[in-house]
Amino acid sequence: MNLILLGAPGAGKGTQAEVISEKLGIPQISTGNILREAVKNGTECGLKAKSFMESGALVPDEVVIGILKDRIAEDDCKNGFILDGFPRTVPQAEALEKMGVNIDLVLSIDVDDEVIKARISGRRVCEKCGASYHIEYHPTKVEGVCDKCGGKAAQRKDDAPETVVERLATYHKQTAPLADFYAARGKLKRVKGLDGVEETSKVVLEAINA
Ligand code: AP5
Repeated sequence: MNLILLGAPGAGKGTQAEVISEKLGIPQISTGNILREAVKNGTECGLKAKSFMESGALVPDEVVIGILKDRIAEDDCKNGFILDGFPRTVPQAEALEKMGVNIDLVLSIDVDDEVIKARISGRRVCEKCGASYHIEYHPTKVEGVCDKCGGKAAQRKDDAPETVVERLATYHKQTAPLADFYAARGKLKRVKGLDGVEETSKVVLEAINA
């Protein structure tokens, strides 16, 4: 299954992508995680992306489309994949179509902005493997240590409250229109992401018939 997860920053895309990936045995492809890794390693792509990410803006389409194209050509994507954070603009969605990629389903996880702001302030992300946690709703077993790989679970730079406001504005302007784009193609399903992580996983797995 080729699946896209849509939703505002902090809606739970990464959290649910991990659950689906485990259940279906297909990879989670997070453009945010790939970009953060590139920034950390100081690659050419990372240098291009850094200032956009830190201000809450989107990284230019041509950079992200190139990354995505390379990633889905890898062997582990042969039986399907979960796109978490891509596409984020209509030109990115059009580029995916031009690549000839068939998308089975687009699942939008809907959460109000006020809930998002509260959630993001408590988020912790593993600096090594990208796993996502929350100090209250989805804590690590040992404080600050990733359950999966033992890496350091810390707050992301772009999770500062003023940057979150920018990221939400960017989302409403540039990414939310993708719901109509995919609804017009008969691919869109919506689920409420307001309940806890486990309750949300239940409706997510039901929606994808997993
Ligand atoms: P990216 O890393 O994709 O960030 P995002 O879309 O802003 O999404 P988040 O990772 O913030 O949230 P999420 O929905 O995955 O939520 P999570 O599961 O962590 O992108 C970062 C930046 O990279 C962008 O701003 C942009 O600059 C750039 N970028 C990336 N892709 C790009 C693209 N395609 N084009 C251009 N630029 C791009 O959950 C959030 C928190 O809430 C966690 O702490 C979690 O534990 C908790 N939580 C989750 N679900 C629940 C629940 N149901 N109840 C309670 N708590 C919950």
